[in-house]
Amino acid sequence: MLALSIALFAFWFHDALAQSSGSCRAVTQHLSDPPYENYFYSDCHSDSQVVVTSPLPDSNLSIIGPRLIVAWPAGNSGICTYFQPQNGRNGSLGIELVNSTLGSPLGPVYKENDGAKYPYVGIEGVISFNSSATLTIPILGSIRTIRDFTEGPSLLRPIIQDAVNATKTNGTGATLSRLWLDNVTVSTFTLVPYQNSGTNITIHQQNKTLNFGPGFYSFSASFNYPQLTQLAPGRVLNSASQNLIQQQPDQTTSLSFLSYSEKLLAGAWRFLTYFGRDSMISALLLEPVLSQGNGSATEAVIGAVLERINRTDGSVCHEETIGDYATYLNLQDNITSTAPGFTYPMIDTDYYLPVLMAQYFNHSPSRISALLQRNAGSVDVQNRNLTYANLTLINAEKIMNQTAAFAKNQTQANLIHLKSDQLVGQWRDSTYGIGGGRIPFDVNTALVPAALRAIGQLARTPGVFPNNTRANVTAWRTLADSRARIWEEQTLHFFEFNTTASVARSRLQRFVNTSTFYNGPTNASSLPASGNVTNYAISLDGNNHLSSVDVMHSDSAFRLFFVNSTPSTPAEQAQETRFINATANSLVRSFPAGLMTPQSMVVANPALSGSDVLIANFTNAAYHGTVVWSFQLSMMAKGLERQLGRCDNGSAPSLSPSSSSMMASTPSWCNDTSVYGNVKRAYNILWDSIEANSAQLQGEVWSWTYSNSTGFVTTPLGVLSSGTESDIRQLWSLTFLAVKRDEILK
Ligand SMILES: *[C@@H]1O[C@H](CO)[C@@H](O)[C@H](O)[C@H]1NC(C)=O
Ligand SMILES: *[C@@H]1O[C@H](CO)[C@@H](O)[C@H](O)[C@H]1NC(C)=O
Ligand SMILES: *[C@@H]1O[C@H](CO)[C@@H](O)[C@H](O)[C@H]1NC(C)=O
Ligand SMILES: *[C@@H]1O[C@H](CO)[C@@H](O)[C@H](O)[C@H]1NC(C)=O
Ligand SMILES: *[C@@H]1O[C@H](CO)[C@@H](O)[C@H](O)[C@H]1NC(C)=O
Ligand SMILES: *[C@@H]1O[C@H](CO)[C@@H](O)[C@H](O)[C@H]1NC(C)=O
Ligand SMILES: *[C@@H]1O[C@H](CO)[C@@H](O)[C@H](O)[C@H]1NC(C)=O
Ligand SMILES: *[C@@H]1O[C@H](CO)[C@@H](O)[C@H](O)[C@H]1NC(C)=O
Ligand SMILES: *[C@@H]1O[C@H](CO)[C@@H](O)[C@H](O)[C@H]1NC(C)=O
Ligand SMILES: *[C@@H]1O[C@H](CO)[C@@H](O)[C@H](O)[C@H]1NC(C)=O
Ligand SMILES: *[C@@H]1O[C@H](CO)[C@@H](O)[C@H](O)[C@H]1NC(C)=O
Ligand SMILES: *[C@@H]1O[C@H](CO)[C@@H](O)[C@H](O)[C@H]1NC(C)=O
Repeated sequence: MLALSIALFAFWFHDALAQSSGSCRAVTQHLSDPPYENYFYSDCHSDSQVVVTSPLPDSNLSIIGPRLIVAWPAGNSGICTYFQPQNGRNGSLGIELVNSTLGSPLGPVYKENDGAKYPYVGIEGVISFNSSATLTIPILGSIRTIRDFTEGPSLLRPIIQDAVNATKTNGTGATLSRLWLDNVTVSTFTLVPYQNSGTNITIHQQNKTLNFGPGFYSFSASFNYPQLTQLAPGRVLNSASQNLIQQQPDQTTSLSFLSYSEKLLAGAWRFLTYFGRDSMISALLLEPVLSQGNGSATEAVIGAVLERINRTDGSVCHEETIGDYATYLNLQDNITSTAPGFTYPMIDTDYYLPVLMAQYFNHSPSRISALLQRNAGSVDVQNRNLTYANLTLINAEKIMNQTAAFAKNQTQANLIHLKSDQLVGQWRDSTYGIGGGRIPFDVNTALVPAALRAIGQLARTPGVFPNNTRANVTAWRTLADSRARIWEEQTLHFFEFNTTASVARSRLQRFVNTSTFYNGPTNASSLPASGNVTNYAISLDGNNHLSSVDVMHSDSAFRLFFVNSTPSTPAEQAQETRFINATANSLVRSFPAGLMTPQSMVVANPALSGSDVLIANFTNAAYHGTVVWSFQLSMMAKGLERQLGRCDNGSAPSLSPSSSSMMASTPSWCNDTSVYGNVKRAYNILWDSIEANSAQLQGEVWSWTYSNSTGFVTTPLGVLSSGTESDIRQLWSLTFLAVKRDEILK
């Protein structure tokens, strides 16, 4: 049902309005994901995404309605308009963009603005309505304000909405405009009948709704705000990977749309701004193809992260608040300022930075001093007077501080917990993402040890950390690695849970009997006939007094991808063998006995938990439920490849440099033909499923529905769940540009 069709083309045009006589290349892309149609438009003046939603005959009309969104990376800004049929029943109004003299379907808006600092930029085009319609709700300003409405409890703020002006334009048209809280920027949306003489737009001033008849309307959306500098595909990719521009133009165009010299953006349209975790995971997975050096994509990622570090405690920023929403949040604090805000709710994000920097400096040692000498402060004024070197050290110091207690005493209390005032703290950042747990699996078993290995390497790399600091950086050269080993070897057992095969079978049966979204086979035959079924909790200290949240999950990918050292004792080797075998089993077994569905690997599966609460919360409509995330497929595939590579001493793959000292010895599971065969089988099953779902791979997340007559059917998450619409393009879902199937392992 979900056909992702792609039309991609680039052309040259001359911008008649521009004062400069130079030409300005436009790059456009159309991505169809019914009921969503996505259009991208970038030229030398601005970058825009337009999302048109039009209900399908089978759409749930309480979730899907006619809607037009224009989203801009600059200031994380946008315009959202909702439409309703004037007379017909709900669902009878359809809208679409059509090609016209204004564009195919989009064309540029570029207007020099007398006296103002920045020109008006944006897009225009023609939109068609199949019946008379009302524009019911316009939201002009920040994407965050739009998301508060689309994802929150339909929140509209008087301070934003009351500032919308509705005026007549060209006699029969209308303009909606709003001055931002900065008193400088104006967002404008114009709708004018186009080759459509029989109609006329009526404005209701009280509620700023617009009424109009069926037919064609030209629309334009623009704003006057400083723009970002997009990196063209040729600059995002390293010189060895330029051929990808011809081979995979759709993906490289999307990657370029999300890449700017200032930062990489997490996703389109909902996350068109900085997110620390997303950009660093993407840079790690894309490393073989991403540009390096001055002005490169890799340095855009590292620089963006360093600029936003909290200098007081070394935390890496999760999300920035910029543009109109920043001014709005400042106002809530009674501060008159347009200064951006930076949030630090996450506990995982700190650990990615040393891993990324160690990897980068290992490959580009010539960039160490140039990058670290740079002065921070252009993004977060708090960081003025600090160099990138200062911020790198403060982050490493935080990690050394946070990991010391567990290195001394391996108690559950000394594991890394979510911040006490937060419900979330790692990538599964929705309310039930880790089942209410406080101690996540990925951070403790994978990210902490990887960061420690990386800090050890950075400490041994001349020119990274200065010698005379309050921290004993010289000691880190060995201390970080010995501490990493403790975290590598002593954390898994807190999460391991074993159920007997017969208990597992009865839990599966109960899941199928009680689940609201799955009533197919249990696939219990894939479980062993007797003995134990081993799995790993997604977190500890869960809701409802659950000591561990025994949801089967894909976060084992973090351990496979980030941890490559060989355990020091036979008992710990056996633990590693149980872990990798259980991870392989979770992929080899079909849902609900395992994670594998025809839509590929789901990121969570509560079927074996035996908990009704977990079964109720981890559903096919939950953002981090039994749904498929592209970046998890990519990380799992690369992680399995790295682990299998360790079995083959002759041709070890390019491991993370932080583990280079540990690469020599082969893990004992490599010599266990049953485990080795299982891991290899898992790798191939995963890749078969990735290839079978290639149409979805660049999206953020997708789901499925099941019935005994249709079987599994791929379904957009936004269709199942209001407020959790997937991004059509997500930065870390483009990592398959670099992560490829190793045919030798077939
Ligand atoms: C609109 O124009 C684009 C670019 O020329 C073309 O690919 C597309 O098929 C056109 N759409 C329609 C509906 O004609
Ligand atoms: C408004 O009318 C002017 C003059 O006819 C025309 O140049 C302009 O394109 C019209 N604007 C819109 C948005 O239709
Ligand atoms: C909206 O209207 C008010 C009152 O007429 C005016 O002061 C303001 O400048 C207008 N804002 C915009 C963005 O046109
Ligand atoms: C914008 O103008 C209003 C009214 O003059 C003023 O109260 C407010 O502080 C100004 N906001 C900013 C961010 O300058
Ligand atoms: C446009 O609407 C106004 C006010 O409702 C009406 O007086 C006028 O006749 C309409 N014009 C057309 C062309 O429909
Ligand atoms: C807006 O106001 C008009 C009249 O002023 C009314 O007819 C219409 O129902 C209102 N629309 C909404 C969506 O509130
Ligand atoms: C930075 O960290 C300090 C110390 O933890 C904290 O008090 C401060 O609120 C943080 N800054 C921001 C912007 O969150
Ligand atoms: C802002 O000022 C208002 C009015 O004086 C006050 O009620 C409110 O508590 C203040 N908010 C903050 C965050 O200080
Ligand atoms: C940076 O240094 C200058 C000059 O020494 C000083 O005036 C300013 O307060 C410092 N800024 C910060 C954020 O520390
Ligand atoms: C930043 O680094 C320089 C050079 O090592 C050092 O002299 C300075 O004290 C550091 N500043 C802070 C705040 O750590
Ligand atoms: C790390 O701990 C030391 C000693 O308690 C303290 O001085 C320093 O501020 C801490 N650094 C960070 C970044 O947390
Ligand atoms: C480790 O922590 C436990 C629990 O708090 C405590 O009983 C034990 O004495 C500690 N051991 C060491 C070596 O500090």
